[in-house]
Amino acid sequence: MLEKINEAISHIRAKGVLRPEIGIILGTGLGQMVSEIESIIEIDYADIPHFPVSTVESHKGRLIYGTIQNKTVLAMQGRFHYYEGYSLQEITFPVRVMKLLGIKYLLISNAAGSMNPEFKKGDLMLLDDHINFLPDNPLRGKNHDNLGPRFPDMSQPYSKELNNTFIQVSKQLDIDLKKGVYVAVMGPNLETRAEYRMFRQFADAVGMSTVPEVIVANQMTLPCAAISVLTDECDPDNLKPAILDEILAVAEKAEKKLTKLFVHVIKQI
Ligand code: HPA
Repeated sequence: MLEKINEAISHIRAKGVLRPEIGIILGTGLGQMVSEIESIIEIDYADIPHFPVSTVESHKGRLIYGTIQNKTVLAMQGRFHYYEGYSLQEITFPVRVMKLLGIKYLLISNAAGSMNPEFKKGDLMLLDDHINFLPDNPLRGKNHDNLGPRFPDMSQPYSKELNNTFIQVSKQLDIDLKKGVYVAVMGPNLETRAEYRMFRQFADAVGMSTVPEVIVANQMTLPCAAISVLTDECDPDNLKPAILDEILAVAEKAEKKLTKLFVHVIKQI
């Protein structure tokens, strides 16, 4: 695995990505963030050795290097999901590459369904903790001790320092930032009423991403933070059919405040 990572790193460095400080996974709701990046170098995933390639039309697959608020950022435009058929090792490969390219922090966004009745669609939720409900783990298999420990600690999966920065900046910007537990499921179907009823016992939001990347970031001692755009309200006793276009429309509407929040957090880091 280290050899594959080094081949990917050589290719990315040769394109001019020399000193990235902050890695960003642009999930749903952060599409606009790209327009905030200056002096851009773009690299298609398809050109990077061993990088997975996106199967979803709406997810462009490329790495974008540049600056935001004078910080160098390396952003993944297009991310991978377990339901697409990738292994969790493939999904998290770019996180390992970004860490060994030198990023000091990892920021992530995603879309999720809200199960906490106090959270409304369009709200942003800072991940305070998570539950891995995926039927797999990116660390399964032989451990590469040079990449991290066999049994990584997960007592604080999201950086306290980064989360405090998000909370402080959201107050400054007058953005209502919720905080909660995210449960990752395989998907791709949304949940049944009985499933939402079960999940809401132990989580505030449910989605299909992020947790594998955060597990690997923790194994590599890479501080990370993640924000969910809550795109639908999942009340099992009053569940309306989920319409994908509506979910995407809610995510799009939240883009502006999410982008603003990320830009100001990057300034503070
Ligand atoms: N469940 C899982 N993933 C999601 C949901 C949901 O209700 N909404 C957006 N992503």
